[in-house]
Amino acid sequence: MIVLRPRRLRRSQVMRELVAEHRIGVEHLVQPLFVAEREEDTGPIESMPGISRHSLDAAVAEARELFALGIKSVLLFGIPASKDAAASSSYDANGIVQRAIAAIKAALPEMLVIADLCACEYTDHGHCGVLDSEGEVDNDATLELLCRIALTYADVGADVVAPSDMMDGRVKAIRSALDAHGRTSIAIMAYSAKYASAFYGPFRDAAGSTPQQGDRRGYQMDAPNAREAMREIALDIAEGADIVMVKPGLPYLDVVRAARDRFDVPIAVYNVSGEYAMLQAAIRNGWLDGDRAVDEILTSFVRAGADIVISYFAKAYAQRHG
Ligand code: PBG
Repeated sequence: MIVLRPRRLRRSQVMRELVAEHRIGVEHLVQPLFVAEREEDTGPIESMPGISRHSLDAAVAEARELFALGIKSVLLFGIPASKDAAASSSYDANGIVQRAIAAIKAALPEMLVIADLCACEYTDHGHCGVLDSEGEVDNDATLELLCRIALTYADVGADVVAPSDMMDGRVKAIRSALDAHGRTSIAIMAYSAKYASAFYGPFRDAAGSTPQQGDRRGYQMDAPNAREAMREIALDIAEGADIVMVKPGLPYLDVVRAARDRFDVPIAVYNVSGEYAMLQAAIRNGWLDGDRAVDEILTSFVRAGADIVISYFAKAYAQRHG
């Protein structure tokens, strides 16, 4: 009688690599970048050690470094000089994200520039859209705003727009607006299953986008729901999304897996600011081996079925593995 010994395949590094089922390559990683309009808003983000709000020039320099390391996709967020109820700085042709897109594409034409598409960094109330007279986010009025922003991103050369607001019907509205203006080749990466999560805390500090009143549970998804995520993803695909996203990552790996098993479009996962912050806190305390922990976590996303991983650890990973 033979004895089955799975340990034979774990005896050496070479053997383990030979039989490895998954590996995350740098070409699947996206680095988020924060670009601030005012000099006084630039600098390190306290709750995200190692991540900064960049000036325009610093963002271009950072993009060059990333590209050289093999990270050839960036996701841009703007920190504007002014905010108002209508988010008017979001669709300014000369706004900070518009200028950053143009500058990065001019410096690095091959860099894939993804522009996050949401009003929350640009509204003085911090919600992801315009408010109605009752103080609720007005879905359909927000769609018009999103289309307007998307066209300004298209005008300056964005490759991908990524709506992260969770309004109903936004993918269809944005696709129609882009197509009507001849922008048929710009892709949409939809934040399709975006949960109302505690893990966005550090991002909101960085972007100053914490809602002044209320929260986002009226439009972002509720943590217990996975079937509903499939419905949101199916809707976005039907409306024309090229890539769909699950966000946050670690607490929702089951949703990534379910989406992978069900849909054939590329799936992105967002390893968000709070996931970054908690890991950095442990690493900086010496409680975890950072390199191993980061590799293990990034691998978990591809094992769950993600094709694209958006992570604040992208650069550090590429420095070690690029
Ligand atoms: C904008 C947006 C947010 C994130 C990505 N796009 C903030 C939010 O929804 O509050 C979060 C990213 C992160 O936490 O790293 N709506």
